[in-house]
Amino acid sequence: MPTGAVIEFSSITKRFGAATAVNDLSFTVEPGRVTGFLGPNGAGKTTSLRMLLGLVTPTRGTATFGGLAYRDLPHPLQTVGAALEAASFHPGRTARSHLNVYAIAAGLTRTRVMEVLTLVGLGEHAGQRVGGYSLGMRQRLGLAYALLGDPGVLVLDEPINGLDPEGIKWIRGFLRQLAAEGRTVLVSSHLLSEVQQSVDDVVIIARGELVHLGPLSSLDTDTAPQVVVDSPNREALSSALAAAGISFVAGRTGLLAAAPDPGQVGHVAFAAGVELSVLHRQKVGLEESFLALVGGGRSL
Ligand SMILES: Nc1ncnc2c1ncn2[C@@H]1O[C@H](COP(=O)(O)OP(=O)(O)OP(=O)(O)O)[C@@H](O)[C@H]1O
Ligand SMILES: [Mg+2]
Repeated sequence: MPTGAVIEFSSITKRFGAATAVNDLSFTVEPGRVTGFLGPNGAGKTTSLRMLLGLVTPTRGTATFGGLAYRDLPHPLQTVGAALEAASFHPGRTARSHLNVYAIAAGLTRTRVMEVLTLVGLGEHAGQRVGGYSLGMRQRLGLAYALLGDPGVLVLDEPINGLDPEGIKWIRGFLRQLAAEGRTVLVSSHLLSEVQQSVDDVVIIARGELVHLGPLSSLDTDTAPQVVVDSPNREALSSALAAAGISFVAGRTGLLAAAPDPGQVGHVAFAAGVELSVLHRQKVGLEESFLALVGGGRSL
């Protein structure tokens, strides 16, 4: 079973002329977990991954796999599988012939080529020219290429883009399985909702800088808790809350009270003899927390 290496970004910066695409970014990605690398369009995700894979030279800082830069890996294809955005495959060649070239170069067998094509659901299309592939099929081919050397580390840039609902469900399960096998899985997306069901950890960047890092669950713990409460007599409820010093605003489904515990709000209403029609904790969606963190994003 391949073992995953720790990916480490250390103070990495990339400037393109006067523009800073990535600024002093540091974080690690652990094996055995799926890490979502998130940020809005133009945040610097692809640039960071390209630096990690040695395709772009950092202005400053390093990005390594188990302490080694990509170019120093003795067996790159067997160590790191990468599928970057807009993978370009020659349209006139078949999926099988594409992968055969890489397989031969890396000392892998042709059997492995058919194995990975079948694994990503392209077994029946292996002999088809890539020019006729849909976006989703090209994504799957990119993934097949990444898996060719059975690597312990997978770096995937927006792998869900272009997949249909069935493909999305499949890749979510697939990422989980790869991590469960002990691999390091780093997967980028500009949408949290796209990867929310498959990631353990999130690294969120905006305008080239780190804005949040931690387990997925850490995303909504920072937001102030609120309680939704309503009454057939909203006026009496408002007075009771005000008298108890609980601030509130009128929301769509009731009053949004700045209180950590629904029980406390219920007690205030009970003590004031106010009947309640609604009382529950407001669940702040992860997506809302994500959007609050990344702000307006970069104007492209
Ligand atoms: N080769 C380049 N030359 C000049 N600027 C670049 C280059 N590559 C990227 N940039 C700029 O760097 C910034 C980050 O781009 P990047 O592609 O890394 O973002 P991203 O997070 O991958 O966005 P998306 O979600 O749209 O894929 C953008 O402002 C982009 O215009
Ligand atoms: Mg990108």
